[in-house]
Amino acid sequence: MMNDATGVDEPHYWDALYRNNQDGWDMGTPTPVFVDLLKSRRFEPGKTLVLGCGKGHDAVLFAQHGFPVTAIDFSAEAIKHTRSLAQKQGVSLALVQEDIFDYSLGISEEFDYVVEYVTYCAIDPSRRAEFASVVPSLMKPAGRFIGLFFPLDNRPGGPPFAVSMDEVNRLFGKKLELVSVEVPERSVTPRKGKEMLTVWRKL
Ligand SMILES: C[S@@+](CC[C@H](N)C(=O)[O-])C[C@H]1O[C@@H](n2cnc3c(N)ncnc32)[C@H](O)[C@@H]1O
Repeated sequence: MMNDATGVDEPHYWDALYRNNQDGWDMGTPTPVFVDLLKSRRFEPGKTLVLGCGKGHDAVLFAQHGFPVTAIDFSAEAIKHTRSLAQKQGVSLALVQEDIFDYSLGISEEFDYVVEYVTYCAIDPSRRAEFASVVPSLMKPAGRFIGLFFPLDNRPGGPPFAVSMDEVNRLFGKKLELVSVEVPERSVTPRKGKEMLTVWRKL
């Protein structure tokens, strides 16, 4: 990937990566962290928004557990893959091909759960405060934000752009209350120790 934020705000940038098989972040499966979380039945199914759904593995996983899922991504390629995966797996999803920032202008307080994985680190870092205020605007009162933050390291450039928990706590803590935070046991090997599972409640 490139090592600055040029173009990351544009769907074409991501379309090209998907088309050229440069989607090295895609694991071909949902993250085992969400697999475990859903197996634990900690959360009752509720209306769920998966942000920057990519090829749709996590969105399909939530749907398989009975969550009514809306999956949003502004890349046509990502939406195409998600649609095809959902069909293959026999689940139905609402698919939205739109910029998250624009989508948030049209709706409010819609979702019981908002899910984030490897999207916060993909947006231009100068928009992180905006992203952190969009998330609660999409959540119902007392809704939950499930954020699996990656990569917690000091890498230069991106995407993925480095994430710090201090920054996450400062930005998301403005409108959300942190319910739990843990280093997940079952991160995939290259991401072990570099991600943090957080659950937040809307204030
Ligand atoms: C690094 S990929 C991660 C995809 C997926 N979450 C995963 O874990 O495989 C980031 C995704 O976010 C999407 N994305 C980035 N900025 C976006 C925005 N402003 N609105 C909607 N989608 C966005 C990209 O198109 C891409 O599919």
